[in-house]
Amino acid sequence: MSVRDVAVVVVAAGSGERLGAAVPKAFAPLFGSHLLSHALRQIAAMPSLANLVVVAPASHLQEAKDAVVTTGLEATTQVIAGGTTRHESVAAAMRALPEGTSLVLIHDAARALASTELFERVATSVRDTGLTTVPVMPIVDTVKRVEGEQVLETVDRAFLGAAQTPQGFQAVDLQAAHQAATEQFTDDAALMQSLGAQVRRVDGE
Ligand code: C5P
Repeated sequence: MSVRDVAVVVVAAGSGERLGAAVPKAFAPLFGSHLLSHALRQIAAMPSLANLVVVAPASHLQEAKDAVVTTGLEATTQVIAGGTTRHESVAAAMRALPEGTSLVLIHDAARALASTELFERVATSVRDTGLTTVPVMPIVDTVKRVEGEQVLETVDRAFLGAAQTPQGFQAVDLQAAHQAATEQFTDDAALMQSLGAQVRRVDGE
């Protein structure tokens, strides 16, 4: 029987400007529900899930709560309002985590189809190694380094990977990192790495 020792944070408070939808990205429709609902369904099936924090735009707290109830997660979930940046949204969630949380996964709601198995794979890595863990996919495109309109060179893609979420952490480490953060990072693993943490890769999907 597995232990329920994992806190999951779903950040869904972005405006989704690049997507250009009429609603924040996490609430964009997909196959009859919205992106956040799809992500919550995968998380609800995790054998190791202890609790969940959903970070939503202030304008969509009720929609987020409704999705939590529909997924049957209301007993283990807090829904809170996000900040103006992803870092502020994650930092708010870290403050909301129950005392004594050891292991936390941070997930972008926009990655609506990440599987339950992927969440468990990342959690297992953090549990077994204690290391910050990131799912990474090989890059299949030919990658160019560019400057304006000029293509400078082809980069050896054997040494490149595309980072995904959920990313896994020891909760105390990530809490401290977000308190200390002075610059913006596009993911939490980059923040940890900037503070000297070793980061482990598992297969993405
Ligand atoms: O905009 P970006 O692609 O970096 O967003 C990644 C994730 O972070 C999305 O799931 C988005 O909802 C979330 N986010 C957030 N609060 C913000 C900005 C982004 O929760 N202020």
